[in-house]
Amino acid sequence: MVARSKVDVVLGTFYGDEGKGKIIDYLATNSDLAIRCSGGNNAGHTIEVDGKKFAFHLIPSGILNKGTLAIIGNGVVVDPKVLIEEINNLKENGYSVNNLRISDKAHIILPYHIEMDKLLEENRGANKIGTTARGIGPAYCDKYERSGIRAEDLISDKFEELLTFNINNKNKIFEAYGHEKIDLNKTLNDYKGYAEILKPYITDTITLIHDALDNGKKVLCEGAQASLLDIDFGSYPFVTSSNPSIGGVCTGSGVGAKDIGEVYGVLKAYSSRVGAGPYVTEQDNEVGDLIRELGHEYGTTTKRPRRCGWLDLVALKYVVRLNGLTGLAVNHVDTIGKLDRIKLCVAYNHNGKETTNFSTNSDFLNNSTAVYEEFDGNFGDISNCKTFEELPENAKVYLKRIEEYTGVPVKFIGTGAGRENMIVR
Ligand code: GDP
Ligand code: IMO
Ligand code: MG
Repeated sequence: MVARSKVDVVLGTFYGDEGKGKIIDYLATNSDLAIRCSGGNNAGHTIEVDGKKFAFHLIPSGILNKGTLAIIGNGVVVDPKVLIEEINNLKENGYSVNNLRISDKAHIILPYHIEMDKLLEENRGANKIGTTARGIGPAYCDKYERSGIRAEDLISDKFEELLTFNINNKNKIFEAYGHEKIDLNKTLNDYKGYAEILKPYITDTITLIHDALDNGKKVLCEGAQASLLDIDFGSYPFVTSSNPSIGGVCTGSGVGAKDIGEVYGVLKAYSSRVGAGPYVTEQDNEVGDLIRELGHEYGTTTKRPRRCGWLDLVALKYVVRLNGLTGLAVNHVDTIGKLDRIKLCVAYNHNGKETTNFSTNSDFLNNSTAVYEEFDGNFGDISNCKTFEELPENAKVYLKRIEEYTGVPVKFIGTGAGRENMIVR
């Protein structure tokens, strides 16, 4: 008998865009299953293969491997239009999508979710969250309010009735806001078309995942967003509407806590954030501008310039605890190595007192300043380094300090954007 296998997990540690796509791409090469468990097309994961860039929003990037079954889990909210565009783009580039599966329990994003997302942001005035306007929050609201429409409903005879009921209700709200109403007939027609295309991929993914685990298959969970954007553990309300931390892996795919194997946390050698919210190590100055240009820090999904700053070990330690991280992946070591001097936040100064305890309370964060240690940069060209030992001394010192502070080994080191620019320890 084969021993039951475990699910290895890749999670974002800060505010997203840490380069999860690249680590997942590497790990997926020998995975039988790659699963997305939470979020939706607010995610944008970039993978560079032979100089060509692929941006994944919904489909697990493991789809690039012929032998990997790519699963959109029940915890994901799916915009069918975006998913079909992504499927078509892959096909046009010569990739098969026969290995795609969508959970019958995944909730569907409808036009009223997107309109509501924009409307709520407008309404917030100066207090905008800076959402991606993809309808993510309103789709999760409907899920928990129990008026959501799932993939299994989209392809069933019930769809027209469910949609009619929802749109009639939503239009009362839009009317009260003085907003244009949602066109029922157009939505119905569009979505019936999407249902036809997506039907072959929609299935019970829970059985599929457990059968794979029972058969000792290699299963990878591709995290989206990141722990500090978590609805419970992030800097609420400047967060996304799901649990991108470890709990979301279980609820978003149907596996148990005992099924979890390695939990890799991905970070950059600096930090970035898109959208509003507190950010203690932000460099809203020429240093931040330099990091943004060197690291090409512009959103994969919305193209917004990312806010940039130093790496925050106080926050990272909190994220290590939340998720039980077993390994770190540090990307953009090449980018940070272009600076002469590098800072690393090792404590916060809060009201004149130093602390290493992190809290997402916004009053705490807005009234804390970073205490830094400084390091030498100028790593030179490290893009061809294949082992830790080959790295220049300055890079080793910097990475070792991250390990020492967090107590978690650095297992992957990003030395460039390409698939091949990575050190695996
Ligand atoms: P994700 O959302 O976490 O998958 O990350 P994104 O794809 O949104 O953003 C990460 C960006 O950094 C992408 O443009 C990647 O191609 C790029 N990238 C990832 N790792 C490295 C690295 O080690 N060095 C450099 N220079 N770029 C990297
Ligand atoms: P990946 O997977 C970066 C941010 C948005 C906004 C907040 C809420 O590429 O790392 P939402 O549309 O989710 O309601 O927006 O969350 N956000 C991300 N930021 N990377 C992401 O995903 C993100 N997904 C959501 O910018 O601040
Ligand atoms: Mg991204």
